[in-house]
Amino acid sequence: MKIKKGILLICLVMLFGNVILAQATYKYIGADKCKLCHNKPATGEQYKKWTEEPHSKAIATLSSQKAMDYAKKNNIEDPSKEAKCLKCHSTYDRAEANQRATILPAEGVSCETCHGPGSSYKSPVIMKNKAMAMKAGLIVPDKQLCIQCHNKDNPFPKDFDYEASLPKVLHPNSQRAN
Ligand code: HEC
Ligand code: HEC
Ligand code: HEC
Ligand code: HEC
Repeated sequence: MKIKKGILLICLVMLFGNVILAQATYKYIGADKCKLCHNKPATGEQYKKWTEEPHSKAIATLSSQKAMDYAKKNNIEDPSKEAKCLKCHSTYDRAEANQRATILPAEGVSCETCHGPGSSYKSPVIMKNKAMAMKAGLIVPDKQLCIQCHNKDNPFPKDFDYEASLPKVLHPNSQRAN
């Protein structure tokens, strides 16, 4: 009897321990990994669409004349290395150091800021099942996510109109019934 209880306890600790561990260790795999499966014209070529919209250029923007002029006035040496700027311009820098797997610093605002770190949901069996993917870290982006960055802390703030902005970043897969 006592032994059985002991084994049960050990099992419970292992089970919940693993759940906590799994949540803490979702890692950022980077846009090149998503590209392997999400760049086909027939299913919406999400990677190509992203390279054509501003989020993929958010690091380059930090070296623009406008950024450099702002930096000079505000005693910032190099905006492209400045944590105050990178916190909104870079998925890599938003990730905890121990969550960075193959993601690259130059990606800017990439897939995993909007969809969540992909290490656990990236397998096709999980990806095809939305509920399973969400259990493995997939985020369904909404307005709350956008306004983490589209807000007045931006040194060049613009009013953010979610309904008007959303279509500019979408990359639907027309083969899927919604
Ligand atoms: C090995 C292939 C593969 C990889 C790698 C992969 N996906 Fe997927 N993904 C799929 C398949 C298959 C589907 C289901 C069909 C579809 O939506 O294209 C899917 C669906 C999705 C969906 C829609 C989920 C839903 O049900 O609403 C999102 C969002 C997504 N993937 C994002 C990503 C991101 C971001 C990455 C990189 C971190 C990634 N995927 C990596 C194969 C993959
Ligand atoms: C991690 C921070 C971050 C998140 C989250 C984010 N954005 Fe952005 N967004 C940026 C940055 C930075 C730029 C500027 C990129 C550049 O021009 O270099 C930008 C630019 C844009 C632009 C182009 C500029 C404009 O105003 O027309 C649109 C549209 C946009 N974002 C929409 C969205 C939407 C919709 C969401 C939510 C689904 C979202 N963003 C989530 C940081 C973010
Ligand atoms: C709170 C999030 C946030 C922070 C912090 C932030 N940015 Fe941005 N930045 C954005 C967003 C969002 C946009 C796109 C705004 C839009 O067009 O609607 C943007 C756009 C820009 C642009 C293009 C503006 C234009 O009008 O063409 C420059 C340049 C820029 N940021 C530089 C910087 C610099 C330099 C820093 C650090 C001092 C910084 N940003 C910090 C969110 C942020
Ligand atoms: C600025 C935020 C943002 C970024 C960056 C982003 N996405 Fe999305 N993505 C969205 C939104 C919003 C949707 C629509 C979600 C919904 O309504 O379910 C979406 C939907 C998708 C879907 C499902 C399409 C469908 O119709 O089934 C896939 C697949 C996807 N994204 C992959 C990617 C990949 C791969 C990247 C990087 C190359 C990426 N996304 C970058 C915001 C983003």
